[in-house]
Amino acid sequence: MRKSNISVLGIGYVGLCTAVAFASRGYNVIASTHDAEKAAKINKGLPPFHEPNLQNLLKEAIDSGNLKCLVDETEKAVVQTDLTFNAVGTPSRADGSIDLHFIETSSHDIGKALRQKSAYHVVVIKSTVVPGTTQDLVKPLLEKESKKKCGTDFGLCMSPEFLRQGSAFEDTIHTDRIVIGEHDKRSGDTLENLYRDFYGKDMPPMIRTTLATAELIKYASNAMLATKISFINTIANVCEKIPGADVKVVAAAMGLDKRIGPLFLNAGLGYGGSCFPKDVKALIACSRTLGYTPELLESVENVNRAQPLRAVEFCKQQLGSLEGKKIAILGLAFKPDTDDMREARVIPIIIQLLKDGAEITAYDPVAKPTAKTIFNSKIHYATSALECIKNADCAIIVTEWPEFQELTPEDYARNMKQPIVIDGRRIYDPEEYSKELRFTAVGLGK
Ligand code: UDX
Repeated sequence: MRKSNISVLGIGYVGLCTAVAFASRGYNVIASTHDAEKAAKINKGLPPFHEPNLQNLLKEAIDSGNLKCLVDETEKAVVQTDLTFNAVGTPSRADGSIDLHFIETSSHDIGKALRQKSAYHVVVIKSTVVPGTTQDLVKPLLEKESKKKCGTDFGLCMSPEFLRQGSAFEDTIHTDRIVIGEHDKRSGDTLENLYRDFYGKDMPPMIRTTLATAELIKYASNAMLATKISFINTIANVCEKIPGADVKVVAAAMGLDKRIGPLFLNAGLGYGGSCFPKDVKALIACSRTLGYTPELLESVENVNRAQPLRAVEFCKQQLGSLEGKKIAILGLAFKPDTDDMREARVIPIIIQLLKDGAEITAYDPVAKPTAKTIFNSKIHYATSALECIKNADCAIIVTEWPEFQELTPEDYARNMKQPIVIDGRRIYDPEEYSKELRFTAVGLGK
């Protein structure tokens, strides 16, 4: 049987990983984006963002001719293929609600392409969209522009993506589950067959459901993980008030309960990134529009907003006034293995430290160029962790890059002006680091 030809719209993490995954398994994939610079990079086999393991696979996909990336040619990409994954961005508006502008314009373009096609085509929404979007916004636009009927002339599905940055490609290939929200049975069958062909004997568990349920599954999953993080950070804040208490041990013991599980219970300075903050806000805004105020999720957000500032409070407890104090910031990315700083917890920390008059030197293995676009020359940038802590009055671990674990208590004691270390991500053994240093960590009772 001929393999389906696939078009992918939008080449962020989801779009690019989807495109490379299908291309790497022999499908002919045409991607399309508005961003000419990104497309040029991709067509040379260079990922437009830092993502481990993606470079070789992308290069192979481009060299094999299975993947090409077009600029602003959505119609052409759709016309030449059998199925379209729409993975365009769905950013937040200022009020936290979701901005569906790119979904709208891409749906117009897909609809125009469908008008030119006689063969059956399935459109799959991969972007994170609030419940109701695929049925009430995408479908009418596709029908209007194509002058065709959804369900008979073309198919429509919603299939959310659960990949994490830093392991984006592995997560695409080895996902825990496939969710197919379907407008009608034929649409769902077509997408299921594609996934079955792609995964073969490694087909993950699959849920077939309505479009709206599929849309909500993505939000509910991210909101649950964000809730776990704000929950454990709440327990961390309680631990800090209790002499001898340690949130890491609490979390490890809790995690052994199969009903709770060990993952996403790492206390720290809160969650950042392109998904959790945006998705929790969008779910709150969407629920409010529907006449329900999700107080639990509002608290999850409030805890996360306050959490990074714990690092500044720790600094003040140790140093008093921060005026003129040299603070070393270790880690800028919102998590390790990415250069992404969207909603990174370091941003409110640095803003507050600067307000308090501190002088900041930061180091991150890959996110320095991103940081420069945010902070320019307001902070200094070091080229290594050791250079960063040199002569500092206080060092804060903000991102748990593995290389920071290699810094010994002696490294800190020898290089810093004052040996004050704040472990915002719980990467160090408190007993070992407390011997030589004035050591504080999130969730550690004094
Ligand atoms: C997340 C979801 O995991 C993924 O399924 C979804 O598709 C997109 O959003 P991502 O944003 O890439 O993925 O990163 P993730 O590893 O989930 O971490 C998000 C944030 O939570 C990071 O800032 C991380 O530091 C923080 N985090 C994570 C914690 O503070 N504690 C934890 O235990 C886990």
